Amino acid sequence: MKRKQIFWLAGFVLLLSVSAAASLLGPADEPQLARTPPMGWNSWNHFECQVTDAIVRAQADAMVSSGMKAAGYTYVNIDDCWQGERDASGVIHPNKNFPDMKALGDYIHSKDLKFGIYSSPGPKTCAGYEGSFGHEERDAKTYASWGVDYLKYDWCSAKGEQIPAYKKMQEALARAGRPIVYSLCQYGRERVWAWGASVGGNLWRTTGDITDNFDRMVVIGFQQNGLERFAGPGHWNDPDMLEVGNGKMSDDEYRVHMSQWCILAAPLLSGNDLSKMTPATLAILTNPEVIAVDQDAAGIQGHRVSEEGPLQVWMKPLADGSRAVGLFNLGTSNMTMTVYFREIGVGESATVRDLWARKDLGTFKDSFTATVPRHGVVFVKVKG
Ligand code: GLA
Repeated sequence: MKRKQIFWLAGFVLLLSVSAAASLLGPADEPQLARTPPMGWNSWNHFECQVTDAIVRAQADAMVSSGMKAAGYTYVNIDDCWQGERDASGVIHPNKNFPDMKALGDYIHSKDLKFGIYSSPGPKTCAGYEGSFGHEERDAKTYASWGVDYLKYDWCSAKGEQIPAYKKMQEALARAGRPIVYSLCQYGRERVWAWGASVGGNLWRTTGDITDNFDRMVVIGFQQNGLERFAGPGHWNDPDMLEVGNGKMSDDEYRVHMSQWCILAAPLLSGNDLSKMTPATLAILTNPEVIAVDQDAAGIQGHRVSEEGPLQVWMKPLADGSRAVGLFNLGTSNMTMTVYFREIGVGESATVRDLWARKDLGTFKDSFTATVPRHGVVFVKVKG
């Protein structure tokens, strides 16, 4: 063979092997579920054990009519308290508040939304209802037959080792014949972020329960620094569901909550009554530029850049090379805050856009300074 022919042949072989490798790493190996943090609604924070079929249907309706669905919210998730008794063959049935789970799943799907449910690896759930212990295989099949797309699996009364208990349900789900997002809930014990993905978790709670209280929300949301390397497409840290709109925080405080969850690439599961939202609540939950930070394709969880008393600056790198930056004032009086571009890996000069106001603020040199209201945030996108 001539040199030239050898050259072309070698090039051809190289091309073939590169494309074979690419197809090996291609779509098939990319996570199909929860590629971005799951978005939806969950019954617990607002309705707790008062949840019923009628309420869930009304939430699905409101998710569509309010514009939440258009903003990206998809999952309609029933939390604890739907369970009734098991029959003689061990099949779980819902209680009287849920006459027909398959029909409810069909209703949710008819709106092009997805259906989520809740159970526990223990014999009882946290509210004392029937858990899945010893019934994992059967329950996974039952959920699939109802059209379930998402399972929150809450430790509660479970005993023993967590990894095999969570793995067991994951294997049952994998055999149930339906893709089901798997949400681990064990309050961040035993460094779940280090093993959650290995048991098939698409998300795992990193903390105890949130409440509709500013101090509690801050404890939960601002202690996540350092966990960023464990999150990514298909597997997310979950600092618990949203309280936005439940009434016990100010709008500024809810903007802190929402901004920080987006910087954390946290699942956005609204926990309010979607059928009774104020315009302010709706605006906080659906601002497209804020949500875009959470749902950014790079899937990088943000981290803290600086902290000075009650003032904290957090940054999330975005796929287009820009940075989402939260200037958080967790203190009780208005304060002036500065982010220096060198702290966030941006060159000397950068444009800054206010994400809540959806307004360009101009081009800045070396740093950006803003007055941040008490218990408030200035949330910007900085582009070098
Ligand atoms: C635990 C969970 C909550 C909720 C309740 C339901 O406390 O952490 O999110 O699911 O159980 O009983």
